[in-house]
Amino acid sequence: MNSKPIIVAPSVLASDFSQLGAECARMEKAGADWLHLDVMDGHFVDNITFGPPVVQSLAKIATVPLDTHLMLDRPDHFFPRFIPYSSNITIHVEPDYDIGGTLKSIRAAGATSGLAINPPTSFDKVEQFLDQIDLLLVMTVNPGFGGQKFIEETMVKVKRAAEIRAERGLNFHIEVDGGIYADTAAIARASGANVLVVGTGVFTAPDASRAIKELRGA
Ligand code: DX5
Ligand code: ZN
Repeated sequence: MNSKPIIVAPSVLASDFSQLGAECARMEKAGADWLHLDVMDGHFVDNITFGPPVVQSLAKIATVPLDTHLMLDRPDHFFPRFIPYSSNITIHVEPDYDIGGTLKSIRAAGATSGLAINPPTSFDKVEQFLDQIDLLLVMTVNPGFGGQKFIEETMVKVKRAAEIRAERGLNFHIEVDGGIYADTAAIARASGANVLVVGTGVFTAPDASRAIKELRGA
């Protein structure tokens, strides 16, 4: 099922925010391929994290690509402010805005475009956009907070996405986010996911480098 190399993307939401730069450097040293940045607006999800100034500062010190996950009601309005600092920008399919147009604008502005789907949302909602994206983010928890339990039923979406990708000759990454540890990573990889977003599972691990190796199935 898995045709792409495994990418591990630590989510800084689980880091010590008073040491953000050092925490990112620690993850890079441990073998992180990307850094995953969770931007929350207090509307789309019931939490508030950080915005463009923090992403800008991280972009100055990061040595790996920044994967920016916008959990916002108006991603179409805010994405341009993250473009200069992000390698990939992921927007959600649930809010009411011009999704196709925003995906196109993200690419035109020079980042890759990701589309995210929450656990309760029907897969039909993303299906029409699969030929316009570089990454599909299948949320494996309801977004808003780290440290939640992996929802295994979401693997149906990962498998369906991998099937459609093969059928249509597409090339997008399949990313999972939430409750990922060595055991759930193995389930996600077997289902077809190749990008593993991990917060608690790496930041609180006694040995982050070992945790990242285990996530890859090594
Ligand atoms: C949840 C965020 C995740 C979160 C994952 O809303 O999108 O990126 O940080 O955290 P863990 O790995 O702790 O479940
Ligand atoms: Zn995320």
